[in-house]
Amino acid sequence: MSKPVVLQVGAYPDWDQIPLDAAFEVKRMFAADNPKAFLHVCGPDVRAIATRGELGADTDMITACPRLELISVYGVGFDTVDLETCRKRGIRVTNTPDVLTKDVADLAVAMMMCLKRNVAAADAWVRQGDWQTKGAFPLQQRVHGNRIGILGLGRIGTEIGKRMLGFEMDVAYTARAPKTNVPSSWTYIADAKTLAERSDVLFVSLAASPETRHIVDDSVLTALGPEGILINVSRSANVDENALISALAEGRLGAAALDVFDNEPALDPRLLTLPTVLLQPHHGSGTMETRRAMGQLLRDNLMAHFTGQPLPTPVL
Ligand code: 8YV
Repeated sequence: MSKPVVLQVGAYPDWDQIPLDAAFEVKRMFAADNPKAFLHVCGPDVRAIATRGELGADTDMITACPRLELISVYGVGFDTVDLETCRKRGIRVTNTPDVLTKDVADLAVAMMMCLKRNVAAADAWVRQGDWQTKGAFPLQQRVHGNRIGILGLGRIGTEIGKRMLGFEMDVAYTARAPKTNVPSSWTYIADAKTLAERSDVLFVSLAASPETRHIVDDSVLTALGPEGILINVSRSANVDENALISALAEGRLGAAALDVFDNEPALDPRLLTLPTVLLQPHHGSGTMETRRAMGQLLRDNLMAHFTGQPLPTPVL
């Protein structure tokens, strides 16, 4: 029996590629010299798309695949998938939630620690010999006991909040409604600006959607203020990147740590010159343990679909 044809949008580690190739006829779009022409040729045979959170599947890609039944996303975010077209055509969509939650929260906390205590610059201070020639490293800001804002108390936001308990932080959050299953000491705040006003550190852990686009705008950044820190581990679309760059350049915002960017990996060059921003290469879920679990879940969803089983983690 012939294997179902799967269009692969981005690369995966070998430990995923090998079993994927064994189970399906995989068409590697990312390896094609001319992906558009490649899609034109393969599209009519494609029954599933295997993609990554940040790559998704846009309208053109879906339209080029008239027999498409399923889009399996390697990642929790599916904002880059054209859900409207999928809905209309009855195409199922799956993602890889839960398995990556704690890793993303861990990186968010690491980014906060790194910025607050200036860990990267302190390493350079030692390496460059400044410790010997200039003396002690400049004093930094305290971490524990800070006022923390979590914009979007979903799975990842909740894990960030749990980590904050160990740092004796004063935690506040936004969500669609107050949560009943979180510590009673956590304060619910309805809007982003009020949350930013009462925060030393604002974590953005909100699933991106058209409604959340640029929810962190100039007014939120100004409310966070010249001592405030913004940490984004969600999607760049949640933050107005231009406003962020201006606020940092003008000192209206203290600092920012970003794991996600507009047009990544081709960053706005202004970001590379700002000393008050910590840059990370979109690797919140980037541990071996989690990436293995994500790959397994991506394949489990594909296998379930093609063997008529319920999808383990459906979005649509
Ligand atoms: C990426 C992500 O999918 O989970 C998400 O939504 O953006 C990430 O986990 C990951 O970088 C693999 O490409």
